[in-house]
Amino acid sequence: MPSGRSSFVVVANRLPVDRVEMPDGTTAWRRSPGGLVTALAPVMQRHHGAWIGWTGGKDEKVDPFDEGGMHLVPVTLSAEDVELYYEGFSNATLWPLYHDVIVPPEFHREWWEAYVAVNRRFAEAAADAADDNAVVWVHDYQLQLVPAMLRRLRPDVRIGFFLHIPFPPTELFAQMPWRRQILDGLMGADLVGFQRPGAASNFARLARNRMGLRTRGDRIHLPDDRIVRAKAFPISIDVGELEQIARQPETEARAREMRAEVGNPAHILLGVDRLDYTKGIRQRLRAFGELLDEGRVSVDDAVFIQVATPSRERVEQYRVLRDEIELLVGRINGEHGRIGTPAINYLHTSYSRTEMAALFRAADVAVVTPLRDGMNLVAKEYVACRYDDTGALVLSEFAGAADEFRQAFLVNPHDINGMKDIVVDAMNTDDRQLGRRMKAMRKHLAAHDVNVWAASFLKALHAED
Ligand code: ADP
Ligand code: F6P
Repeated sequence: MPSGRSSFVVVANRLPVDRVEMPDGTTAWRRSPGGLVTALAPVMQRHHGAWIGWTGGKDEKVDPFDEGGMHLVPVTLSAEDVELYYEGFSNATLWPLYHDVIVPPEFHREWWEAYVAVNRRFAEAAADAADDNAVVWVHDYQLQLVPAMLRRLRPDVRIGFFLHIPFPPTELFAQMPWRRQILDGLMGADLVGFQRPGAASNFARLARNRMGLRTRGDRIHLPDDRIVRAKAFPISIDVGELEQIARQPETEARAREMRAEVGNPAHILLGVDRLDYTKGIRQRLRAFGELLDEGRVSVDDAVFIQVATPSRERVEQYRVLRDEIELLVGRINGEHGRIGTPAINYLHTSYSRTEMAALFRAADVAVVTPLRDGMNLVAKEYVACRYDDTGALVLSEFAGAADEFRQAFLVNPHDINGMKDIVVDAMNTDDRQLGRRMKAMRKHLAAHDVNVWAASFLKALHAED
């Protein structure tokens, strides 16, 4: 075997770092946004495998390199690939279809063709990087065809696939013109992992009803006698690492400074999201705005910090959302803000882990209200940082995290009045009760960190059929 092949290969659309231009014209690597990177980077740092992914640029040819204790193997995407495969099929077809069609998915044949071609390129890169009998772990909705393509190229490797986002009910999946090809692609894996048990059931149901396959428990029987297992593995974060950052005196000092900067209100409410229509940012800000309108909350005692990282900015629905959110923030601040005290501090900044931990330490109430979310790691990060059992988590029932955090203040983000009541309740609940709730959530999180997630997925992948 040529040197440089790895016995453990991760394949994901993005590398954990993006190439960015610095003001002086030089380039540097910066951590890429999103939950997949948050979860996988610590796992990869421990396993010393190879990570195959895109650098975030167009037509960028970069040789394999090492960064942050990981071996990274870039895949080049052309400007057309970015437009058709990434912005198009991945983020304007699959993303909305898999998130309850919150916005209508678009189906275009040329996007599908690009998706097939780019998936093939990732499969070839994985086949080149994998050692004999290696384990290859493919991630997320952008690469659902890779498992079957890779199996054809390299029948010797063990293939796992993990979907970080929801897998839709069969009635919605049925809209997909290329539904059979996607199911065939996923069936190339030995193990298909989902965030929630319901997603694994949706997949098994499709295997039965659309592919005529026999299923038993988590096993799907293929005609060639192969077995594919489909099961939930709820993802998590590196709890120990984040908690350690949160406990540092510098982080606490920074959190105090942040509180002072927003005028030391009685309550800081915090939202942290990519600017995505699945995250329910509009619903939560509307709820906060109405609480101010009704005088149930005042800017003297409550400030909202909303960190909203621009995402997928060339996709139409994301542009529309950004405009809507900015209009709403402007209106609420115009009506309720005072000089030096806006009602909503709205930020596009990308933060370091320390700054993020300080924000979580500064916030009395984390408001996590997605309309649909595979897991939502921000909820887990908030809980990890509350090492003194303080703080309230307002959490959407439609986030995977709600399966685990039953003691959160659970909300239906479509119900603005209900959300208003629960936010007020979270702000007014006494410290003893908050402490009890947070302690229970922290106990669960401590026992289910990202290493437990990765170990249980990889153990199941290695298990004999
Ligand atoms: P998604 O994968 O859909 O973006 P998650 O909530 O699962 O949603 O994960 C988001 C991740 O991105 C979290 O680890 C969060 O801390 C991180 N993140 C979000 N916004 C920022 C930001 N402005 N700066 C740094 N990290 C961010
Ligand atoms: O699972 C959600 C996800 O799409 C990941 O694949 C990705 O890391 C993250 O969101 C950020 O999205 P993007 O790579 O499109 O910026």
